[in-house]
Amino acid sequence: MMALKAKIVGGGYYLPDRVLTNADLEQMVDTSDEWIVRRTGIKERRIADNDVYTSDMAFYAARKAIDNTNINPEDLDLIIIATCTPDMYTPNVSCMVQARLGAVNAAAFDISSACTGFISALTVANQFIATGYYKKVLVVGAENLSRMTDYKDRNTCVLFGDGAGAFIFEASEDEGVLATEIGADGVGGKNLTSLAFRDDEAEMAKRVSKNKQTLWMDGSEVLKFAVRTMVQATFDVLEKAGLSIDDVDMIVPHQANIRIIDGAVKRLGIDSEKVFVNIEKYGNMSSACIPIALCEAIEQGKIKKGDTVVLVGFGGGLTWGSAVIKM
Ligand code: ACO
Repeated sequence: MMALKAKIVGGGYYLPDRVLTNADLEQMVDTSDEWIVRRTGIKERRIADNDVYTSDMAFYAARKAIDNTNINPEDLDLIIIATCTPDMYTPNVSCMVQARLGAVNAAAFDISSACTGFISALTVANQFIATGYYKKVLVVGAENLSRMTDYKDRNTCVLFGDGAGAFIFEASEDEGVLATEIGADGVGGKNLTSLAFRDDEAEMAKRVSKNKQTLWMDGSEVLKFAVRTMVQATFDVLEKAGLSIDDVDMIVPHQANIRIIDGAVKRLGIDSEKVFVNIEKYGNMSSACIPIALCEAIEQGKIKKGDTVVLVGFGGGLTWGSAVIKM
């Protein structure tokens, strides 16, 4: 029997209607549209209403993904949701979505690896499918980062937005995930933090709002790490798949900063037309960036059946991940 691969059979995404523009941020902190666009490439981002949580956005995206396939929620074997902004510590977001979908036969768990989350979840899904353990897996990246953002800290508040993207993977002997690569640098974890139970005076002192749950980041350290790992993780996963950068039709990278993407494009030696970018509209939505960008690239006809696509992400932990998919 040929090896089984996780094949994409349907995708969907959800973005809140509410838009937070650079002009809005100029009213909130000492910043300017010119600075934000030049240093990040972001023009606006979406913000969920106060009564909308990660599980709501994940559910809307998942429902759309299912509607784009001929499978029913009861057919799902597993739901994996990547998020660093769950509604609650327990139940996890995957169980909340399982209940709303009526996916009564699915196991459900969350994955926490910040912006790398969707790739981590996809990697796990691919393993379950490759061994024949499960046949149909729903993978979602969903984030309510606005709840974790310190809107008094200009170093971070211009970067983040909310949203969710979902894909259904099914076992296939032909196309699908060709290789994945995930990694971690826990020593660098101190560069990107948000506290839950832990009391830590030093962490508290860094936060303008003095709210320990808000996200604090050493931006320039994470920026250096991001360019380095985006390039390395792309080359590593291509090597695993026995491919070269010339075989790639499209790279869908995590959307953290246009300068990270531009820096990586140069070092990868790939035409910038082959790198999908939507950061100007949504900013950094952590684990939701890659699935939303992949959906948009497919919708816009930039990714077609038969294409070779690389997904690559990096973020809190610090973590990174990449995947090559034959569409
Ligand atoms: N408006 C105006 N000035 C600002 C702003 C702002 N919004 N933010 C920072 N500045 C200032 C700083 O205060 C600093 O001023 P100083 O020199 O007087 O101290 C100056 O701009 C330069 O600051 P740097 O931090 O050196 O700016 P940098 O070029 O590194 O850009 C940024 C900052 C955009 C945060 C960048 O470092 C970045 O994108 N880092 C990577 C983020 C990332 O990849 N995150 C991914 C993971 S997120 C997750 O996992 C949830």
